[in-house]
Amino acid sequence: MSIRYLEQTKTFMLDTKSTTYQMKVDHLGYLMHTYYGETISDDDLSYLYIPADRGFSGNPYEAETDRTYSLDTLPQEFSSNGVGDCRKTSIEVLNADGSVAFAGTYKAHNIYTGKNKLEGLPSTFPGSEEVETLEITLEDAITNLQVILSYSVFEDEDVITRSVKVVNASTSAVKLNKIMSATIDFLHSDFDFIHFDGRHVMERNLTRTPVAYGVNSIESVRGTSSHQHNPFAILCDPKADEDHGDCYGFAFVYSGNFLCEVEKDQFSKTRISMGINPRNFCYLLGAGEEFQAPEVVMSFSANGFAKLSHQYHDMFRGHLITSKFVDQPRPVVINSWEAAYFDFDEDKLLHIAESSVDMGVDMFVLDDGWFGKRDNDLSGLGDWFVNTKKVKSGISGFADKINALGLKFGLWVEPEMVSEDSDLYRAHPDWAIKIKGRRPTRARHQLLLDFSRKDVCDYIIDALNTIIDSANIDYIKWDFNRNLTDVWSHALPAEQQGEVFHRYVLGLYRVFDEVILTHPDIIFCGCSGGGGRFDAGILYYSPQIWTSDNTDAINRLSIQYGTSFAYPVNTMEAHVSVCPNHQTFRTTPIDTRGIVAMGGVLGYEFDSTKLTPAEKEVCKTQIGIYKKDYDVIGNGDYYRLTAPDDNNHFMGWQFVSKDGKKAIASVVITEYEPNGAQRFLRLKGLEADAIYYIEELERKVSGRVLMKAGIPLSLILFQYDAIQYHLEKM
Ligand code: GLA
Repeated sequence: MSIRYLEQTKTFMLDTKSTTYQMKVDHLGYLMHTYYGETISDDDLSYLYIPADRGFSGNPYEAETDRTYSLDTLPQEFSSNGVGDCRKTSIEVLNADGSVAFAGTYKAHNIYTGKNKLEGLPSTFPGSEEVETLEITLEDAITNLQVILSYSVFEDEDVITRSVKVVNASTSAVKLNKIMSATIDFLHSDFDFIHFDGRHVMERNLTRTPVAYGVNSIESVRGTSSHQHNPFAILCDPKADEDHGDCYGFAFVYSGNFLCEVEKDQFSKTRISMGINPRNFCYLLGAGEEFQAPEVVMSFSANGFAKLSHQYHDMFRGHLITSKFVDQPRPVVINSWEAAYFDFDEDKLLHIAESSVDMGVDMFVLDDGWFGKRDNDLSGLGDWFVNTKKVKSGISGFADKINALGLKFGLWVEPEMVSEDSDLYRAHPDWAIKIKGRRPTRARHQLLLDFSRKDVCDYIIDALNTIIDSANIDYIKWDFNRNLTDVWSHALPAEQQGEVFHRYVLGLYRVFDEVILTHPDIIFCGCSGGGGRFDAGILYYSPQIWTSDNTDAINRLSIQYGTSFAYPVNTMEAHVSVCPNHQTFRTTPIDTRGIVAMGGVLGYEFDSTKLTPAEKEVCKTQIGIYKKDYDVIGNGDYYRLTAPDDNNHFMGWQFVSKDGKKAIASVVITEYEPNGAQRFLRLKGLEADAIYYIEELERKVSGRVLMKAGIPLSLILFQYDAIQYHLEKM
């Protein structure tokens, strides 16, 4: 039993393999957070919190003369608002009488085997594992507004998921202005806050700061999870590193605006909350209506970041990604974007495809430019019919020609967008997101379709299913190349305009349900100008996401490093592209580009007709290695051996197969030192007493030596050179 309720102390104990989460209903009915960390058996840890009479922290009326009881200091699972707790809130609601009060106290709970799907939202699922769920209902005794807190326990993964449903059990409408899916109050603030920040073509750089007084937060208000901040965060011991220390992870299963706030309060306690960003959010909840907030996946490791990452990787691969391809080797693609951009016709594409065959690729992906009047990014979006001036055989005929070469066929789409110069926009100008009477912000010259509208989503579902079913398509790259601005819907009344951001995401998920989930034999690849929507919500539908528009091998090292904290390696699509690189103008050896791209889902993106025979041979070898070792790379455990700011002149990472028999370690020289020091690559995740044969060194070495002393890096590895070591346990 992973969930227990101890009646005598009114304590809930949630146990995973190595962690415990504990809560308690206190004497006034408030739900206290009492513990989260390594497994414990102690009941009722509420004694750890010492109630005290704190000046200017008021006392609820029902505490009578007890000046030590205050919601302003009590460690809670879900905060109240407007009735004494002045910290950041879990909920903000405008009641029918204009008040903002919400004070949720325990009403009921329910424990069941299994886990319900969250309505309209992607969420984790039990799979073959037995999962238990606890639902606790808190109710405001005056307004009758209820929140149902859900906790599901994934024992083997050391994961607990949380979500919240708001139920308006009153007789009048309320406005929901904020609803956080998970809140935890810790009694101390000895934490670093780690998050993954960036920008277009440079996503998910790790930021680590001590939790300081006030509020530290990351967020998106761009309508997507964003390039700028990823909806994944870690709170950890300031001394935590890859192998040591307590760390708590929080991943949001949502692809729209989010907020993660960490508050260090006046008494040096920490409150962390994660949920939909309240900025520009206001949901009208009629009497009897419910609002389902998305899920947060929480995990704890007492042994540093590597273990935390393994827990997330196993959780996402086993209980989030619905695609049947999740544990299968993915086809190696050659993509037309950096090969041809908009400048192609069918013959040019066929030449590229043809000349890629002997490299050993599996699939040709036709990127942007094949539809409507799409010769540049000024026009065409929304017109999802083939441009036969460019692709004379049509999509079906072209796919057949690609298939005849022995390759599978993939296609790019950007269904959420519309160009003003398109038949769709001319027919339905009100389908674009823009504020009536105001000229909209353009981005990449394009506007967004209003996915908060059912009719727009229905149209797109139909248009996409028509193209997809018209040809032999095995892969769809689903792109999204701007953010949401000027958000307003023609289809909603003024008092519901605050719902558009969220309704957009719900509309998108419905389209995914109707297009992606109805085509289980097609691989869908998420994309948003590279990695602008790399989140757990997208992974529910797509087993892989284009990690970044930056294909430079050296920049990719830190992008893939940051991404790997939460997301499995076989979700990060990574392509070998041409040099000088189109984003950075840097030249790196083709071996290095291949080794870096094998730190993700390997693919290619260049004009293969321009490769020398020797370069093609290198690609062929890369693909051979990737396929042979796919199980180690894609389904194994991933170890970061260095960090981008370690300043040790190289970056290293490693895969270990789940059965421990094979390992692959990779190194890239990021800064060559002339006549420099001898450097060592210390491996991880091996058995100390086992002996490993290292193919490249033709040598047998013990796991202990490999982990303590490491592999000496050759002195003839120069700037941007790379090497892979293949290890086999004897
Ligand atoms: C985005 C994608 C690229 C490519 C272009 C096409 O930027 O990330 O990979 O598909 O759009 O316009």
